[in-house]
Amino acid sequence: MKGAFITIEGVEGCGKSTQVIGLKHYLESMDYVVEVTREPGGTSAGEAIRAVLLDSAQKDLSPTAELLLYAAARAQHVDQRIRPALEAGRIVLCDRFADSTTAYQGAGRAIDPADLEELHRLATRGVWPDLTIVIDLPVAQGLARAAQVHEPDRLEREPLAFHERVRQGFLQIAQREPGRVKVVDGSASIPDVAEAIQHLVDGFLDSRT
Ligand code: TMP
Repeated sequence: MKGAFITIEGVEGCGKSTQVIGLKHYLESMDYVVEVTREPGGTSAGEAIRAVLLDSAQKDLSPTAELLLYAAARAQHVDQRIRPALEAGRIVLCDRFADSTTAYQGAGRAIDPADLEELHRLATRGVWPDLTIVIDLPVAQGLARAAQVHEPDRLEREPLAFHERVRQGFLQIAQREPGRVKVVDGSASIPDVAEAIQHLVDGFLDSRT
């Protein structure tokens, strides 16, 4: 059986990383082999690129350079980890993927959608999520949560209006692609968000059998 590619997306502090761990355990309890990974990152080169992208000292990084770095990390990730895992029949569970580029660099930084399309095509070479879950949350709430856990990184230091555009960017993707992209309410409790995600994943897995 061909594997499945599931991505979890959302604004800063929406609880993605917690939910990725919970979903991994849920899928493993049903005997699926799960490969958990993240973007930017997931490979040695990708993690090095991540360090540059999140470094709050890199204040002068241009929007185009930022875009290309995310795309470069993704190209390596797809080739080195995601495509091989899917070919081996695994479920790949990824904390962020190309929809983050559409939301952050597209909606957030106003990069031309045609340029995004072209870069997505180059970086992914046809590897695209089968199911994407957007955890939606008011941005001020998410940023406050994130600030309790760590010092703000380069992106988290962007103004509230940037994060609001990103949030709307994710919601627009979900509106455009309701079959692939599902939205859950991230202001609910962790177990309630987990249950909503499990319900969506169950529906997705049932539709494949
Ligand atoms: P996170 O792993 O804590 O979510 O941090 C990743 C940061 O990078 C987050 O601020 C979102 C941002 N990002 C983009 O701007 N574009 C992208 O394509 C990806 C994958 C992440």
